[in-house]
Amino acid sequence: MSVSTAAEAARAVQLRRDLEQHNYNYYVLDQPTIADGEWDKLFHELLALETAHPELATPDSPTQRVGSKPLESFASVTHRVPMLSLGNAFTDEDIDNFDRRCREGLDVAEVEYSCEAKFDGLAISLTYENGQFVQGATRGDGTVGEDVTQNLRTVRSIPLAIDSKAARLEVRGEVLMLRKDFDKLNARQAARGEKLFVNPRNASAGSLRQLDPKLTAERPLTFFAYGIGAIEGAELPVSHSALMDWLAALRFPVALQRRVVRGAAGLLDFYREIGALRPSLPFDIDGVVYKVNRFSQQQSLGFVSRAPRFAIAHKFPAEEATTVLLGIDVQVGRTGAITPVARLQPVFVGGTTVSNATLHNEDELKRKDLKIGDTVVVRRAGDVIPEVAAVIYAKRPADASEFVMPTACPECGSAIIKLEGEAVARCTGGLICPAQRKQALLHYAQRRAVDIEGLGDKLVDQLVDGDIVHTPADLYKLGVAALAGLERMAEKSATNLVASIEQSKSTTLAKFLFGLGIRHVGEATAKDLAKHFGKLDAIMDANIGQLLEVNDVGPVVAESLRKFFDQPHNREVVEQLRAGGVHWKEHEPAAVTGPSEGPFAGKTVVLTGTLSGMSRDEAKEKLEALGAKVSGSVSKKTDYVIAGEEAGSKLDKARELGVAVLDEQQFLALLQGD
Ligand code: IVH
Repeated sequence: MSVSTAAEAARAVQLRRDLEQHNYNYYVLDQPTIADGEWDKLFHELLALETAHPELATPDSPTQRVGSKPLESFASVTHRVPMLSLGNAFTDEDIDNFDRRCREGLDVAEVEYSCEAKFDGLAISLTYENGQFVQGATRGDGTVGEDVTQNLRTVRSIPLAIDSKAARLEVRGEVLMLRKDFDKLNARQAARGEKLFVNPRNASAGSLRQLDPKLTAERPLTFFAYGIGAIEGAELPVSHSALMDWLAALRFPVALQRRVVRGAAGLLDFYREIGALRPSLPFDIDGVVYKVNRFSQQQSLGFVSRAPRFAIAHKFPAEEATTVLLGIDVQVGRTGAITPVARLQPVFVGGTTVSNATLHNEDELKRKDLKIGDTVVVRRAGDVIPEVAAVIYAKRPADASEFVMPTACPECGSAIIKLEGEAVARCTGGLICPAQRKQALLHYAQRRAVDIEGLGDKLVDQLVDGDIVHTPADLYKLGVAALAGLERMAEKSATNLVASIEQSKSTTLAKFLFGLGIRHVGEATAKDLAKHFGKLDAIMDANIGQLLEVNDVGPVVAESLRKFFDQPHNREVVEQLRAGGVHWKEHEPAAVTGPSEGPFAGKTVVLTGTLSGMSRDEAKEKLEALGAKVSGSVSKKTDYVIAGEEAGSKLDKARELGVAVLDEQQFLALLQGD
């Protein structure tokens, strides 16, 4: 250890400043300006400086965020200003009443409110003294909480120092976990064979209350400020919205979803808007919060028991509820995929009563260790299909029973098999299986395919169960009379349906191809195929090699197409559809771009290393203009590898496979046609 020089001291200051700026860019603004590796380099430089010269270390250094020694227990913290809770509102009427109480209490015609998202996390209080973070506490019972300072230091979006002269400032807000971080954490837990967290909120709670701060440091927590507690030695802004702006200027993360509005109508508009955004937000929210904006008005309204009169939480329907798993059935999908479906004791969640939820596949069932009779957490977020999010093992009854995958399809009796390497078990019945037939018809009729308006699942059930329709081609034989005899089909709707079936005859090659429901051929692939080949017969007769020439068509898709069109039955359906009048405009195959002659025409080229005369992108552009396909990896199919300076493993691979290697000089010579 040696005494630090002035230069070293200055460097440490600079590094700390830079690292915290990068932290802020990354964790608060979500706009990183350097790569992770660069950050690590700066961090290790600072760590090395502080280790060699401990006198250079400061409590607000980014090196102090990695977690200190484990604690025996958390100390108690008595909040200087109690941490209250909010009254809840659920209906528009509740909001009208809230607004009326505020207007009457203040004796004004209209009230200005500050609205923001209600974070579904854990309330905490952060104390700063003379600009330094000195203590962080949980809410506890509102009067006394727990000292979790060491853990909160590891949360990168919480500033360790702020640019404020306030002798004391208590910032309040919510600790939570972003959904993407939660998913990553659970994937990591699963990989380690550890217990999965039920939701981001529980994961945050578990992480915040770790006695070992190093464990908390591994958990990706984040923070949003929504108010303050004690403030000494600084002037309080005049309104809540101004306070939020001030906190944002002090570099605290604050909700982007906030706005100042007037009257109950303004509140309800905000509620609907945020409700619509809810599923796409990066974190869970359980409602919105409305606060009378002016602090003077807040003060005059005051408090009732433990909640302010000037604020209220307007809750969204809960996205999760617990219920009992009564049984597990299986459903057969379009490609025969067998999906286990949970039969649940009906429960109100996400605004509706849910009695079924998807369980995805057998592996998922095993991963969750789900048994019939278990108490489970059901989640229904937005319009997403309800799912079983977690199992409450503590409530498992002694007679809980395991689910056994049936060996025969419940719809057609064909064998159910699971191919190696596939997560999904499948019914082998193909179009003999009524369930698969129904799905195939619905797939063909959907808007993104040939678009037959009015052909819904109830109708398809009747058409298949009544042996009226077997393949999409049979749809074109349906007449008003046959349809009008079906349940819920009056003559008028039958006429309409026949008209939309007629209309669906005029389609595009891409939509038709997608509608056939070939495995692995989604909408985008169907479009690529149509564009490349231009004609259906060309696609039906293409060999694997020709199929592989299409953009984004790999071996799996090519094989699936080949298999589909090799089945006489499938070709027959296609012919019947054409004979039934289904048509589209065909065109000549897309012209092959680039010249058909020259050293690079039709060649597959891989670039590796650094070229001194041009960038990788420029080289790629030039090659493509000359008719080459530029690929990212070397294989036997590669014609040339162009190796610049410091070429690495791709060059080795080329040599190993005996692929021609060009250096920059040779490449340029070929480009110039020498
Ligand atoms: S203001 C007097 N604003 O909701 C309490 N709270 O039931 C003032 N919460 O304990 C709280 N988001 O944990 C406020 N934008 C927000 C909030 C919020 C979440 C939580 C907070 C509080 C609970 C109130």
